[in-house]
Amino acid sequence: TDMIAVIVAAGRGERAGGGLPKQYRALAGLPLIAHAHDSLMRHPRVAGVVLVVAEGAEEMARAALDGRPVLAMVPGGATRRASVAAGLEAVAALGHGDRVLIHDAARPLIPRAVIDRLAAALDDAAGAVPVLPVADTLARGDQGALGDIVPRDGLQRVQTPQAFRLDAILAAHRGWAGGEEPTDDAQMLRALGEPVALVAGDPVLDKITHPADFDRAETWLAAASS
Ligand code: C5P
Repeated sequence: TDMIAVIVAAGRGERAGGGLPKQYRALAGLPLIAHAHDSLMRHPRVAGVVLVVAEGAEEMARAALDGRPVLAMVPGGATRRASVAAGLEAVAALGHGDRVLIHDAARPLIPRAVIDRLAAALDDAAGAVPVLPVADTLARGDQGALGDIVPRDGLQRVQTPQAFRLDAILAAHRGWAGGEEPTDDAQMLRALGEPVALVAGDPVLDKITHPADFDRAETWLAAASS
């Protein structure tokens, strides 16, 4: 079955520095959201993209996409969760496709193999996420001094794209009862008692957050195209 990809790009993206929100800034000459669009549409199972942008950013988004097609462009909300919810409602309104990928615009480069693994995992689960094990020591900071060590055994770094059966993730978002804002969508599904499958992620999917992350991603791009 084909999947529709929801790209959330409605954040302020301030930590990456520079005036523009990071999702509109260029990586090797192409805005991050154009990279994300290309990475997703390159996969044969991805049928189209729904793009979620900040209110009033539609023109900037169209310029950044430079003619790349979207099934819908919708305004996001104040939180990532609200932005995803808006994107999922747009997918539901399209009325075709029963699987979605939910992806952060701040992760511009998506290996095809990760989407392959997610799509396969969805045959047996309502949700699937790419993860990487934690390699560093994890510790709390205690007012500038080393605090308690957090055992890293079994801990996973959870990335996007995350893959879901549309009815399941839509139900999770529509039924959200409030409280602490979730940082991704898989945890909302799990909160309903639905198992979420883990597949191997990729370091290239790490979120672009700080200015130096652009350099890291450009190095990857150059290596991939050489
Ligand atoms: O800020 P952070 O990097 O955690 O955001 C993750 C993704 O969620 C980004 O692609 C950002 O544009 C998106 N987002 C959104 N709406 C918000 C906040 C974040 O679409 N209100």
